[in-house]
Amino acid sequence: MVNTVEYSIETKGLVKSYPQPRNFFEFFRGTEKKPVTALDHVDLKIKKGEFFGVLGPNGAGKTTLTKILCTLVLPSEGEVRVNGYDVVKNGGGVRTSIGLVSSDERSFYWKISGRENLVFFAVLNNHSWSRAKERAAEVLEIVGLESAADRRFETYSSGMKQKMAFAKGLLNDPQTLFLDEPTRSLDPNAAKEIRHFLSSLSKQGKTIFLTTHNLAEAEQLCKRVAVLHRGRVQGVGSKRDLGRMLTRGERLMLVVSGLEKPGISRLETLSVVDSVGVEGLGGGRVRLTLELAEGSVSTVLSEALKLGLQIHSTRTEEASLEQIFEKLTTEEV
Ligand SMILES: Nc1ncnc2c1ncn2[C@@H]1O[C@H](COP(=O)(O)OP(=O)(O)O)[C@@H](O)[C@H]1O
Ligand SMILES: [Mg+2]
Repeated sequence: MVNTVEYSIETKGLVKSYPQPRNFFEFFRGTEKKPVTALDHVDLKIKKGEFFGVLGPNGAGKTTLTKILCTLVLPSEGEVRVNGYDVVKNGGGVRTSIGLVSSDERSFYWKISGRENLVFFAVLNNHSWSRAKERAAEVLEIVGLESAADRRFETYSSGMKQKMAFAKGLLNDPQTLFLDEPTRSLDPNAAKEIRHFLSSLSKQGKTIFLTTHNLAEAEQLCKRVAVLHRGRVQGVGSKRDLGRMLTRGERLMLVVSGLEKPGISRLETLSVVDSVGVEGLGGGRVRLTLELAEGSVSTVLSEALKLGLQIHSTRTEEASLEQIFEKLTTEEV
């Protein structure tokens, strides 16, 4: 059957909360604990063939989201479809159409070879014995591990183990591939190889859903990125979209002297100023970092002069993805 859905992944109002474990005393006293909200009304639409990234710090909810999309965890609320299948009503359909690359090496058997591992998993995926052997050989070739295929899994380097995770994720030739922090704990060369490999998979038209806390990686690979923080999507779009969403314009750095507290408040209340960072430099000098609306540098400078500040240096810069990310994930939400 040809799957003609437009979106590989669709979530609407997705919520996941985990009950908080109670310790002995809390249990004994009947203390109620509020559940942890790992995902808070997540709405995403990811088109077929897209290379989509979810960027977020530890605890943001990336693994929870990946697990829900792969039917390993059930959502608490909301609608979730993967390749057109509902994750709650048709988990089986989802599973036959996806591959998951997890960085958990414990899912492999260490005392048998890489090839034997893959044949075993292919049989679990309902392949016949002979087809399983064939498919294992195919995926070993795709990830470039043929020459080491008959060595015990435990002798592999971390880069090779990660390639094995890929090989496993590709066994059923999935339409959509999920990767939860695939380059985490890899050395730079191995990570580079993995990224290269991911780009080529994407060119073959597969939908790729990748989570990462590595900005450069998201920037290099993904067409679109969702920034996730405390279970909420803070923004979705290309790097440029995110930049526009977050900073209304520019960052102005000033080194000044003669600044008093009321001066800072005055600057903060200007409508063109988003935020003011203050750092003492000693000798009465202060570095101000101001996030401004586009084209408002002169307004702010003239206001600073009106306040009687002495301006020693000025510098402006555009927000980098790193700063955007920092801003998105450090502000209280
Ligand atoms: N099985 C679980 N039981 C209780 N809380 C959990 C469980 N899994 C994750 N959490 C909590 O959900 C939040 C999101 O975790 P996770 O999805 O692992 O984030 P990430 O992968 O972005 O680091 C965290 O606060 C985490 O402590
Ligand atoms: Mg995680």
